[in-house]
Amino acid sequence: MRTVTTRAELEQSLAQLPRPIALVPTMGALHAGHAALIDTARRTAATVVVSIFVNPRQFANAADVARYPRTLEGDEQLAKAAGADLLFTPTVDEIYPPSETVATIEPGPLASRLEGASRPGHFAGVATVVSRLFDLVRPDEAYFGVKDAQQVRVVAWMAAQRSDRITIHRVATVRDRDDLALSSRNQMLSANGRVAAAKTIPVALSLIAEAYASGVTSVATLRTLAERVITAEPSVTLDYLDFADSASLVPLAEDAHVGDAASGEVLVSLAAVVDGVRLIDAITLP
Ligand code: PAF
Repeated sequence: MRTVTTRAELEQSLAQLPRPIALVPTMGALHAGHAALIDTARRTAATVVVSIFVNPRQFANAADVARYPRTLEGDEQLAKAAGADLLFTPTVDEIYPPSETVATIEPGPLASRLEGASRPGHFAGVATVVSRLFDLVRPDEAYFGVKDAQQVRVVAWMAAQRSDRITIHRVATVRDRDDLALSSRNQMLSANGRVAAAKTIPVALSLIAEAYASGVTSVATLRTLAERVITAEPSVTLDYLDFADSASLVPLAEDAHVGDAASGEVLVSLAAVVDGVRLIDAITLP
């Protein structure tokens, strides 16, 4: 595996690598969830490119960008072991050259609620950097985790607006032994915060999945079950717990039932803050 940091080096390396090319865009601090993305890409693509770039345009402020974990040495080892061919680790100036205006990409109709409502401008930043990476790497396909449920939908919408027909693949969430979804942000949790997160977030979603499997379909009832678990833990603050149609992200009314979703699938997503760290997780109900 080769590591390149400039656009010129990227271009040179790509010219020698066979198609189809898969891109796995990341912000680094790689973990087994990223390894699963790389490994899945490896099964079909001739070349797997992993990008590591902490994108300032998707954060609300510079302090959040600065405290995002950076573990490049370990990332290189993980990417290589998982099967990447090329690691692209650009600087901010490589992605957003001061001499060029990199236009903000419209994130589309799925971007305004959930994370979009809590983090204004976030998905415009994500759409912009992913679109920029698509322009630079020119992949045939790209891989994203379904934990970031809204992100993968926004990216798929953005990709569909482009003429280059990049296929967007969704890869299942990887969970730790305590069931907490793997996330680079977990590294920022204290030991107590980690325990609190694990005994609330995945438990709340599992309770919903189990109750639904045993025949409970009322949105209000499922919500109450999950909210009870989260509000019982004072160190965890729930931002939202949302039941929406999985395709349109249109919310289901409180008196609705899971079967009312037009697409036939409901996305249950939540965001909670633990130790000042924002964590998200999601499941779908068929
Ligand atoms: O999910 C992430 O790590 C980021 O949002 C992404 C897709 C790499 C864009 O910066």
